[in-house]
Amino acid sequence: MPTFRAPRGTRDLLPDEAARFAGLAAIARELAGRYGYRPIETPLFEQAGVFERGIGEVTDVVEKELFRLAPRTEESEAWALRPEPTAGIVRAFVQHGLHTWPQPVRLTTIGPMFRYDRPQAGRYRQFWQFDVEAIGDAGPAIDAEIVELGLRFFSEAGLTGVEVRLNSIGDPACRPGYLETLGAYYRGHLGELPALERGRLERNVLRLLDSKDPAMAALNEAAPRITDHLCEACGAHFAALRAHLDALGVGYRIEPGLVRGLDYYTRTAFEYYVAGREGQQQAIGGGGRYDGLVELLGGRPTPGIGFGLGLDRVVLVLDEQGRALEEAQSEAPDAVVVSADPDDTIGRLRVATELRSVGLRARSDLGRRKLGRQLEAAARDGAHFAVILGDEQAEGQVAVRDLKAGTQRTVEVADLGRELLRSVKQHRHGVGEG
Ligand code: HAM
Repeated sequence: MPTFRAPRGTRDLLPDEAARFAGLAAIARELAGRYGYRPIETPLFEQAGVFERGIGEVTDVVEKELFRLAPRTEESEAWALRPEPTAGIVRAFVQHGLHTWPQPVRLTTIGPMFRYDRPQAGRYRQFWQFDVEAIGDAGPAIDAEIVELGLRFFSEAGLTGVEVRLNSIGDPACRPGYLETLGAYYRGHLGELPALERGRLERNVLRLLDSKDPAMAALNEAAPRITDHLCEACGAHFAALRAHLDALGVGYRIEPGLVRGLDYYTRTAFEYYVAGREGQQQAIGGGGRYDGLVELLGGRPTPGIGFGLGLDRVVLVLDEQGRALEEAQSEAPDAVVVSADPDDTIGRLRVATELRSVGLRARSDLGRRKLGRQLEAAARDGAHFAVILGDEQAEGQVAVRDLKAGTQRTVEVADLGRELLRSVKQHRHGVGEG
């Protein structure tokens, strides 16, 4: 057993897996750009209040799962690692006055989130999200655009069988009435409620609908449905959203029990699932409208909507579906610099540095081993060329072996970078066309 291990609920992404994540992130970034979303980066930790107020104090994410950072000095603020990016992005929107920008402001970010969840497959304490937010548009057209954007990401990532589950959870006009009805329903079943849910009944009754406790499943199935209690404006918004999705040809299933695990949502709520994986109870993404959040975090009233897609789960499902994500770019070096003199590390380093400076992917073999071994390793790496430093160096020349073609020629050191670059480009071009 090694002395130290990655913390429970976290994983090391070794190069192959890291490359898959990078590939997914590249697809996400390009796609978001195609839809007009511009990148934003916010800190990985914030004042805990950003999450407590934004996400809601009586939610699993804040009550049970928030990674709070121990104060280091008396002046330290109460900080917490971000469990999700929306609250931090809205905090930044308010802080930097982005309401003066053309609305809506379309933002996107990709990065790790932290939740002190019970670890299991697909549920980690550090996980990656692809997030988009459109702040300053009351919808419903943009709601449809965002739902469709999420689906397109999954399809471009190579996932099949992704389904949209959709709901409206009302707004401050109609939700209070519904919550009373819901509260009365659960109070009528008080004896059947697990302790945590009983405690939440008077504090945040909507969370009971979202409970992960199996004891709640039957009770929640029979609970009053919010879609039967929407006010006229919310009902009209929901109908218009569905009309937009229908017009785009985006399929969805209305799920009256879908209320999302975060308090900031109003009206539109949606989640993405992979058909046939229902048993896992794991969404591969989710999002919704948060028309009160900007104001809640100190800005002027501004509507918003967005989603977060779970990249770890996407990779998991891609594996289950037997799909290898094509790497955006080959990881193999263009050239490996080897030497007949095992002690000549300076010569190898110098030549490799020159090759890199003209833009080639060059690795120098700096081990003090025999030339044959160095060449074997170069071939194993998938390198296209081996640059061999030998006796010809005295005449300002090196040998270049094309490891793919099995040919070898002598090249002037002064021309090496230019020549290799030309060959590599020709090769890439040829491969690209074929
Ligand atoms: P969320 O539903 O809490 O929403 O998380 C979004 C997605 O992140 C989930 O559907 C899931 O795929 C992934 N995820 C969540 N927790 C874990 C975990 N412990 N391990 C692995 N993956 C996980 C949000 O976070 C909102 N900020 C989405 C949003 C953006 N709403 C509006 N804008």
